[in-house]
Amino acid sequence: MSIEAAKRYAEEHFDDFLDDLKQLLRIPSVSADPRHREDMQRAAEFVRDRLAAAGVETRLVATDGFPIVYGERLRSDDRPTALVYGHYDVQPPDPVDQWVSPPFEPVVREGCVWARGATDDKGQLFTHIAAVHSWTTAAGELPVNVKFVIEGEEEVGSRSLETFLQDNRELLSADVAVVSDTSQYGDGIPAITYGLRGITACEVTVRGPRQDLHSGVFGGAVANPANVLARLIGSLVGPDGRIAVSGFYDAVRPIGEEERRRLAALPFDEQAFLREVGVPASFGEPEFSILERRWCRPSCDVNGLVSGYTGEGPKTIIPQSAVAKVSFRLVPDQDPDAVLDAVERHLRERCPPAVTLQFRRYHGCPGVVIDTDSAFMQAARRAIRAGFGADPVLIREGGSIPVVASFRAILGVDTLLLGWGRNSDNLHAPNEHFHLDDFRHGMLASVALWDELARCGRQRRQSATDIA
Ligand code: BES
Ligand code: MN
Ligand code: MN
Repeated sequence: MSIEAAKRYAEEHFDDFLDDLKQLLRIPSVSADPRHREDMQRAAEFVRDRLAAAGVETRLVATDGFPIVYGERLRSDDRPTALVYGHYDVQPPDPVDQWVSPPFEPVVREGCVWARGATDDKGQLFTHIAAVHSWTTAAGELPVNVKFVIEGEEEVGSRSLETFLQDNRELLSADVAVVSDTSQYGDGIPAITYGLRGITACEVTVRGPRQDLHSGVFGGAVANPANVLARLIGSLVGPDGRIAVSGFYDAVRPIGEEERRRLAALPFDEQAFLREVGVPASFGEPEFSILERRWCRPSCDVNGLVSGYTGEGPKTIIPQSAVAKVSFRLVPDQDPDAVLDAVERHLRERCPPAVTLQFRRYHGCPGVVIDTDSAFMQAARRAIRAGFGADPVLIREGGSIPVVASFRAILGVDTLLLGWGRNSDNLHAPNEHFHLDDFRHGMLASVALWDELARCGRQRRQSATDIA
């Protein structure tokens, strides 16, 4: 049987696929950092070449930002079309001195490959390229039509992708999207993620005197930007985790009773969770469980805070300015722009006239919840069982993947979020890694997925032209 041939090929060529992945991990494709422009281009070209080698007709699409890799291998109009999404960009490696081995020199140790992007998202993305490669090489054909969209701006908000989707609705028409860029529920517990939080973010700058001032000579008569900023951002969230911005909760979709019961039934050890993250107690809205707070409720976090003198010893100044980067995780049906409007209003109302406030808006995306009853979800379940040897649990997650809402809104396509990573993989942190077992199992699950999706037949909800 051809699936057996594809499976065997994937298993026998595991080391080759791992070598390819390591080559990709060697390219420092940090989208946030303009110094890596050329590396972004190189990473896009590498992905293009690997997809082409897998038998997928592939090209680079130039954008205002970084190139999008588009590929397709179409077999027959009678079969379903899967739209695979991934991202080749990675987070900055900082703080670099905390890495055991350099972030862009991938090494295998302790059963994992260690490098920035190993789990988010190069390793996970690569499982699908390897699975398609295995099918086309060993079986000669794929059971479904596949299209690939691999972007380079996910970690900075997927700005160019939206335009690409809008301009190419026919080209991208599909029955289902597949994204591996999330996590399993726990060790040995694979998951299908049916919900993600959205995000909206801003940078708040408070400016005071022309330059730093002696705090003895001027203190008490000139407003201190650091003091003001601390008060302003302190006013955003209460000690109970409740966000204090007027109107913030107006659109928040409540969690249903049935869902609350289902989430409460997931194995969760609070003490182990606290130990793992290294905090003495949890934080947040007391009437919600920790999983609900992380997956189904909005949150507000300062991501960075800079002002004044932070070197050795004391230095008595009133700093000239203070800056905070702040992000809000959102849930359906909150609108990222409306939330940012409310936040800006909140801050301006509270900002004293003794300083000036600059509010810079970042790109955001809404939260999503996906229907779990579809035939494709069942197919994904069976594929995961085949690849991982265990049944997946249904979870939501707190992170954001902007494309998922865009696929729904622009293409009318729902996404299967099949995450092969683990929350302990140190994504966005020093010492990011991807378990070789997860790489192997993810690849085998992907091999099985194309076969399982084919069995579902075409389920296209609406053609792209029906959605105006
Ligand atoms: N892969 C993550 C999102 C993720 C991680 C979802 C783990 C669920 C579990 C993605 O690359 C990411 O980091 N997204 C950003 C999006 C933002 C920059 C617009 C995020 O969530 O911060
Ligand atoms: Mn990712
Ligand atoms: Mn990420």
